Amino acid sequence: MTYYVTTPIYYVNSTPHIGHAYTTIAADILVRHYRQRGEETFFLTGVDEHASKVARVAVEQGLSPMEFADSIVGAWQEVPRRVEATNDFFIRTTDAGHKAFVAEFLQRMYDAGDIYEDVYAGLYCVGCEAFKTEADLVDGKCPLHDTEPEWIEEKNWFFRLSSYQDRLLALYDERPDFVQPRFRYNEARSFIASGLQDFSVSRAGQPWGVPIPWDPEQVAYVWADALVNYLSALTYARPGEDLRERFWPSARHLIGKDIIRFHCVFWPAMLMSAGYDVPHQIFVHGYLLLDDRKISKSLGNVVDPLDLIDVYGPDPVRFWAARAVAFGQDGTVALEGLHERYERELANDLGNLLSRTTAMIDRFQGGEIGGVPRADSEVAELVSTLGDDVARHFDAYEITAALERIWEVIRGLNKHVETKAPWHLAKDGKVDELQATLYDLVDGLRIVATALAPYVPDTSRRILEALGENVDEIGWERVRYGLTTARAGIAPAQPLFPRIDAPAVTA
Ligand code: MSP
Repeated sequence: MTYYVTTPIYYVNSTPHIGHAYTTIAADILVRHYRQRGEETFFLTGVDEHASKVARVAVEQGLSPMEFADSIVGAWQEVPRRVEATNDFFIRTTDAGHKAFVAEFLQRMYDAGDIYEDVYAGLYCVGCEAFKTEADLVDGKCPLHDTEPEWIEEKNWFFRLSSYQDRLLALYDERPDFVQPRFRYNEARSFIASGLQDFSVSRAGQPWGVPIPWDPEQVAYVWADALVNYLSALTYARPGEDLRERFWPSARHLIGKDIIRFHCVFWPAMLMSAGYDVPHQIFVHGYLLLDDRKISKSLGNVVDPLDLIDVYGPDPVRFWAARAVAFGQDGTVALEGLHERYERELANDLGNLLSRTTAMIDRFQGGEIGGVPRADSEVAELVSTLGDDVARHFDAYEITAALERIWEVIRGLNKHVETKAPWHLAKDGKVDELQATLYDLVDGLRIVATALAPYVPDTSRRILEALGENVDEIGWERVRYGLTTARAGIAPAQPLFPRIDAPAVTA
């Protein structure tokens, strides 16, 4: 089975923040891991441009929507680059290939008899880009945006979502893993079971979007356009190739909890209507909620949390994103937590382990280690189930639990240093035991560096390099004791995580 992972495509009406980077980082961690396991992978991210709110911001700035989108898209293309995500393609919904595909997709739904014309008279929240009912509102306002939705009355094309209720329930019953985690599956399923209303797939009041093929006076509703990106990208990301053959329907959609209905209800029904298989899985993660204090780099210079990458580098931010909140749950995190983990976990637990190990090999053995794995070694025992355990966590999207499992081994290796006290072995002339201990530490470090590669790719390379390993050999089969061979030339490693002054956090 191939592994195709997607992030939501982000609205370009404003600039990116750490919450958007969060999904992109998580998707990248997943895809890097599956590459290590030899899977054929594809990773898609990008932007959602045909939103009413994009058109509005453009007007405010005196630009056409296209000019505005072109002016801001660079900031969004920077997100995967800044977090060192290895996406295979970056989609823009204004791409000609996407627009043509959306038109064809809607035509297929129309030809299937699932689209009809009616008048939409109701509320629309531009913040959500969603049609609202009174029941969705609190004191007449959208609770997410704290704004009153607008009254819209226009002739629209509607999709018969209501007629897909039974098919959707059958899908959920047949595939209990379709939506994860389980509580999100239950949430989506009960929404379907409570009865579905048809929804409008077109907009008449605004010209920004993909023209409806049989009624070019109207454009596709932004969600009817955006969801299709997961499929359209596969048709033109590699000119001359149709990647759908390899990667559809093996898609895993990662989404935040705010967009469950669109992905877990609308999208599978739209796919069924257009004659496509539904995606393999949808994983819903919670929000990374930052405490609302501001951080400042130096006097009065307030930085966006995304700018923490400039302070700490991509690896510590990726590490923190995976570790600070259990993936799938919501969590409020304090920004100090990043600094604290940088010092305690990255610099001390991991960085010092490498520094000490390489320094001892230099000092006691002139930079040489012997290739002597021992089946009865404590380190062999310590790492014996690591590869399987971590892989199992990944298969359940548990990137936080997988990271904790790796950290257990790191803590175990640090304990091993203390228990064995190689400096005493050296002083007492216990040469064989010293050599065996240092071998084990190198092998243990090699294993954790390999397992950590999806989270902290640069750090992983630097560790492997310091150990004299081939930095490109990070296949999952190498997460196993005893693969280190005899070598010379190990020098004391530079600190992996040098001291950084903590950015100040102000109320
Ligand atoms: N354009 C739609 C998605 C279309 S997908 C076919 C959209 N865009 S968005 O810009 O609002 O991005 C929403 C996504 O950004 C969320 O689903 C989530 O993945 C991510 N996040 C935004 N803020 C977040 C947090 N504070 N925490 C975690 N993720 C968050 O909705």
